[in-house]
Amino acid sequence: MNKKKVCVVGMGVMGTGIVQVCVQAGYDTSVVTKDDGSLERGLGIIRKDISRLAKKGRITQEDADKILDAVSGNGTSNLKEGAKDADIVIEAVYEDMDVKREVFKELDRICPEHTIFGSNTSTFPITTLGAVTKRPDKVIGMHFMNPVPLMPGVEVIKSLLTSEETVKAAQEFLKSLGKETVVVNDYPGFVTSRMMCLILNEAVKMLERGLATVEDIDKILKLSFNWPQGPFQLLDLIGIDIVVAVLNTIYNETGWERFKPAVRMTQMVEAGWTGRKVGKGFYDYP
Ligand SMILES: NC(=O)c1ccc[n+]([C@@H]2O[C@H](COP(=O)([O-])OP(=O)(O)OC[C@H]3O[C@@H](n4cnc5c(N)ncnc54)[C@H](O)[C@@H]3O)[C@@H](O)[C@H]2O)c1
Repeated sequence: MNKKKVCVVGMGVMGTGIVQVCVQAGYDTSVVTKDDGSLERGLGIIRKDISRLAKKGRITQEDADKILDAVSGNGTSNLKEGAKDADIVIEAVYEDMDVKREVFKELDRICPEHTIFGSNTSTFPITTLGAVTKRPDKVIGMHFMNPVPLMPGVEVIKSLLTSEETVKAAQEFLKSLGKETVVVNDYPGFVTSRMMCLILNEAVKMLERGLATVEDIDKILKLSFNWPQGPFQLLDLIGIDIVVAVLNTIYNETGWERFKPAVRMTQMVEAGWTGRKVGKGFYDYP
């Protein structure tokens, strides 16, 4: 068992993957999530993935059992209980600045002075999140990619206030999870979300203009660029609500018209069709 204690806040699409890689790397990992069924859902996904890895012989059954033991029973909806003795907290709650601000304020009250706070936000300024705490030098962006266990890269975001010591500690921690890092400066959407959401928004605008169907846009882009999945498949995987939130933040912060979310997407969010996680997005997932 790795000596450091990690707490992951939020057990949705991303939190679930982050918990899995932390436990697999041997960290004593606690999970704090809302009392909305997300803990059980997340644990179910981890159990399935770990069993699959064991069946394929990528890990031994003994290791698989250890990992499953380590995740079960470490979940709570009480932030104090889950985070009070953590060395590193990774926040992966909704992409909603008010929710994140409250979580960071409370974490600052609860956690020891040395605790580093990483945010998995796709776009919000890390400087703003750091500024609600009394330890802005220890707040940093740790932007994991989806699906977390499979994607090798993590974008590390250094705010105006993040110390070099924290950057180094975050990079070492992420390396211990088997991830490669690139450090970028704090600007809405960073590098990855800014590039990806621009492409995804453009695909939806093409659909609105009647250029081609969802299936055909995905097909031609996959065939032409050797992409593993098309933009609509990716939109459903990421969550349409997340993509709209990212686009809105970049648009509101910069005024760049090209980041204004396509109407079809905002309507889908209002209708609750946010992608794979709810069984309906641009495709259906019965
Ligand atoms: N989905 C992606 O592909 C992706 C990729 C990179 C980064 N992100 C970012 O990761 C974060 C999480 O995204 P997601 O897709 O996992 O969202 P999600 O909606 O799937 O999950 C959010 C989770 O946060 C929990 N939560 C909400 N408020 C909480 C609170 N106050 N305390 C504890 N738990 C709380 C919910 O119960 C849920 O489990 C967002 O900031 C998002 O922008 C998402």
